[in-house]
Amino acid sequence: MKVMILGADGYLGWPLSLRLMARGHEVIGVDNFATRKSVKEVGSDSAIPILSMENRVKAAKDIHGYNMKFYRGDITKYGVLHKIIKEEKPDTVVHFAEQRSAPYSMINAKHAAYTMSNNIIGTINLIYAIMDIDPKIHIVKMGTMGEFGTPNFDIPESPFVDVEINGRKDRITTPKFAGSWYHWTKVHDTNNILFANKAWKITTTDIMQGPVYGTRTKEITDKKLHSRFDFDEVWGTVVNRFTVESVLGIPLTAYGAGGQIRGYLSLEDSMEALRLLVENPPESGSYRSANQFVELLSINEIADIIQKAAKKHGIDIGVEHMENPRIEADRHYYNPEIKVLPALGFHPKLKMADLSEQLVKDVMPYKARMNKFRERILPHTNWRRVENAR
Ligand SMILES: NC(=O)c1ccc[n+]([C@@H]2O[C@H](COP(=O)([O-])OP(=O)(O)OC[C@H]3O[C@@H](n4cnc5c(N)ncnc54)[C@H](O)[C@@H]3O)[C@@H](O)[C@H]2O)c1
Repeated sequence: MKVMILGADGYLGWPLSLRLMARGHEVIGVDNFATRKSVKEVGSDSAIPILSMENRVKAAKDIHGYNMKFYRGDITKYGVLHKIIKEEKPDTVVHFAEQRSAPYSMINAKHAAYTMSNNIIGTINLIYAIMDIDPKIHIVKMGTMGEFGTPNFDIPESPFVDVEINGRKDRITTPKFAGSWYHWTKVHDTNNILFANKAWKITTTDIMQGPVYGTRTKEITDKKLHSRFDFDEVWGTVVNRFTVESVLGIPLTAYGAGGQIRGYLSLEDSMEALRLLVENPPESGSYRSANQFVELLSINEIADIIQKAAKKHGIDIGVEHMENPRIEADRHYYNPEIKVLPALGFHPKLKMADLSEQLVKDVMPYKARMNKFRERILPHTNWRRVENAR
């Protein structure tokens, strides 16, 4: 299969490129390096050093014998994206190429507008390019479990639900209420993809993924193949942030009461889930929505897991509950459905508690490097405060 990965330089895009090449697929990567630039913009960097894309491609060839083709390009430029897809004619396009930090989207008007335009225009361009070049191309679009928010009902995997309003029955899109501008871009993307499917029968898999943590996959067998690992308050997901905090001796920064529950998964499990969805497309012309996570955990449970893992390395670390800079409930009901991936054979066995000791060990060698950015760990971005210019 020929697979194009938009956002191939990212935390997920690089390991997925390796996973698909390991499976014998031809991989074409596209990226404009926006994440590298935006992480530097907030005064931070990946905890684990990563090579330039040119050297990554070379390392993948030298270490595993993989041949990856890469294009530097901004997918919000329709002509750029159209030209690459027309030249390569992939069977599948995996779309990761979005601004993916919720706090970054909440910094001020400029960052909110950039997130809206980058994410929504990129997806619209992809839909139109595929309609023009080959409507049979399968789009695997990465959304987020955060599209749903934390509703007080069981979250269905289906994009539609049956309702009765004032005695009349209808089928409506599953209600969603996201918690940041970033998460709303994913809701808007989903609506746009649903509409394109209704209008033109594009074939899509829309993935609602929970936060991913970790450093390892089967193919990351050498330092040269590492993926980025962000840990600052803007770019780091909570598990990665807690891991680095424990190594630096900073009390784990739990926002609010710590009862916020999400569906987490490791980098390896994310790769396996994505591989299954790429290799098993839905029926041509259909829209498939898939929830993607492994276990539901609260912030307090994660803090406990990382504390125990750190202890095994001789580190005693506390937890500091602080005012929550985010707009979210810190005690709530949470019960998302997950049926699509298990039906494809996704049955991960390892949980965060099994992987956390290794995770702490993997970042330890970079303590001095991480220490340079320690100022960037405590929350600076307050989502309740409106800043118009910065
Ligand atoms: N990492 C997670 O925990 C997680 C969870 C749920 C959903 N997601 C989603 O998965 C996708 C990948 O996430 P990630 O963690 O790898 O993020 P990432 O920021 O590391 O990767 C995204 C890549 O896309 C590139 N990009 C952004 N805008 C682009 C544009 N206009 N043109 C070309 N390239 C562009 C970036 O430079 C980056 O390399 C994102 O859409 C994200 O929202 C991630």
